[in-house]
Amino acid sequence: MTPRSGPVELAYDDVGQGDPILLVHGFPLDRGIWRPQIEALRDSYRLIVPDLRGHGETVAPEGVHEMAEMAADLRGLLDRLGIETAVVGGHSMGGYVAFSFFRAWPERVRALILVDTRAEPDNERGRRGRAEMIRLAQERGAAAVAREMLPRLLSEETLEGRAELAEEVNDMMVSTSVPGLVGALQGMADRPDSVPLLKEIAVPTLILVGERDVLTPLPYADRMHADIPHSRLEVIPGAGHLPSLEAPEAVNQAIRLFVEQLQS
Ligand code: MLT
Repeated sequence: MTPRSGPVELAYDDVGQGDPILLVHGFPLDRGIWRPQIEALRDSYRLIVPDLRGHGETVAPEGVHEMAEMAADLRGLLDRLGIETAVVGGHSMGGYVAFSFFRAWPERVRALILVDTRAEPDNERGRRGRAEMIRLAQERGAAAVAREMLPRLLSEETLEGRAELAEEVNDMMVSTSVPGLVGALQGMADRPDSVPLLKEIAVPTLILVGERDVLTPLPYADRMHADIPHSRLEVIPGAGHLPSLEAPEAVNQAIRLFVEQLQS
């Protein structure tokens, strides 16, 4: 068994002033997916936007990258920055990490933002898919994984009409290291069921989902909305799995309104 690496120091942006919002990207992406939110919200809030272990500019330790370990990395970052509580937002795998964070340290979470994610664990078919993707990464590298993922991440509309955006997303995926891909894929396959946690989430929660998301489509968001007591669900028109980049204005507006209401 590969020894655990212990907490990893994350590369991150820390911009703006005000109530802290921690934004966590999905797989196999990096903190660049939150660029429009950083630009739009930095005047009103402090945005902490890290690269998870094995992604972007953060090192990839050998072995499995469990969601709980990624959550511990985030806690280490908040501790280093002297931040006691934050609004915690996660996109897809970042949502799985946000669930782990909440499970371990609910007192550090002021509110949750769950973007195109789900509470259910992988089923048998899902785990087989992960194993195939791990093989693909090991045998043919990140570019092959990116080729598989890109059409599932973006809506057809985005893919056909916004070549620059598709290239930007592809570049993020291609620069993820193989240990980063493999570690996260195995970590996602092993992740716990967060469905029982949903009813325990006592903090206000904003759930966003792209109207055309095929990876974590609307029924997953509906399930979270039904079970999380103080939750609001918003469907982002025209977006696929990556609304923070595909429909930034709608996402910015939803986050701004949600956080403003927390303060009032
Ligand atoms: C992600 O976008 O983080 C992943 O596609 C989530 C997953 O594969 O379960």
